[in-house]
Amino acid sequence: MVVAPFESSQHRTGSTKKTLRESWNALSSVYRRPHEGADPFGHEEGEYLEWLRPLLGGLPVGSKVLDLGCGTGVPASRLLSTKFDVRGVDLSDVMVRRARRLVPGANFLRADMAAVQFDEGEFAAVIALYSIIHVPIAEQRPFFRNVRRWLRPGGWFLAVLGHGAVEGWEEGWLGSEVPMYWSHADARTYRRWLTSAGFEILAQTFVPERDGGHELFLTRARPFSESSGSSSTHSGGAMGQTKSARPEIGPGPSRVRDRRGEAT
Ligand SMILES: C[S@@+](CC[C@H](N)C(=O)[O-])C[C@H]1O[C@@H](n2cnc3c(N)ncnc32)[C@H](O)[C@@H]1O
Repeated sequence: MVVAPFESSQHRTGSTKKTLRESWNALSSVYRRPHEGADPFGHEEGEYLEWLRPLLGGLPVGSKVLDLGCGTGVPASRLLSTKFDVRGVDLSDVMVRRARRLVPGANFLRADMAAVQFDEGEFAAVIALYSIIHVPIAEQRPFFRNVRRWLRPGGWFLAVLGHGAVEGWEEGWLGSEVPMYWSHADARTYRRWLTSAGFEILAQTFVPERDGGHELFLTRARPFSESSGSSSTHSGGAMGQTKSARPEIGPGPSRVRDRRGEAT
């Protein structure tokens, strides 16, 4: 499967978000089958539960938690809603419709996470699992600052982001006839962007998928009064220890993508 470089993509002239919204509408039940189980890449609910454990164990019952790019709400919003007041946001009408049915205890909003606004300090935690990797890269740095603002000081931000850098459209993803858009920086760039947006990186873990993978970041919001530029890390993976000078945005025309977005 070839990822067309963004500049030359036939979708460039149309609206990226409009096309992506339609694609996720078409792919909702391919990505999360009605009878649940793992996603097409083998990620089980138990894996999500491990990722969410710091939040489930560390926040008081009833805390407000935001799930950005929540999909059907299964499994993340559903797991969180056993304990918290959960708000989910997704670009796809179909995803949101299913989420409202599958997770009746949470509230779901159909919106673009890069455009939606919440109050300052409204949430005790924000999660974004495999979703920011679909937001155009130019929107991501301001978006991280928004997330920081929506969190109370010390609030958690858990995100699955890119491991390698990719930007472009892919035809035939999951055997479908709709195009899928990927846009993400590499893990070192995300470390830098998260730190400068006001997050302390507590853990960083490579999440393998076949011969690719993504990067899971567990962070907490530093108080606004603290200066940015440093972070302490307990790294779960080998990547991301070195500062990168600039984001490396790819791919070239012939880069081949494996799964949710990793160039191979
Ligand atoms: C790979 S799915 C992940 C869904 C869910 N987080 C999970 O882990 O099962 C990506 C989701 O992000 C949503 N998404 C993509 N771009 C978005 C945007 N700009 N705003 C809100 N949601 C977005 C898609 O509609 C899709 O439901």
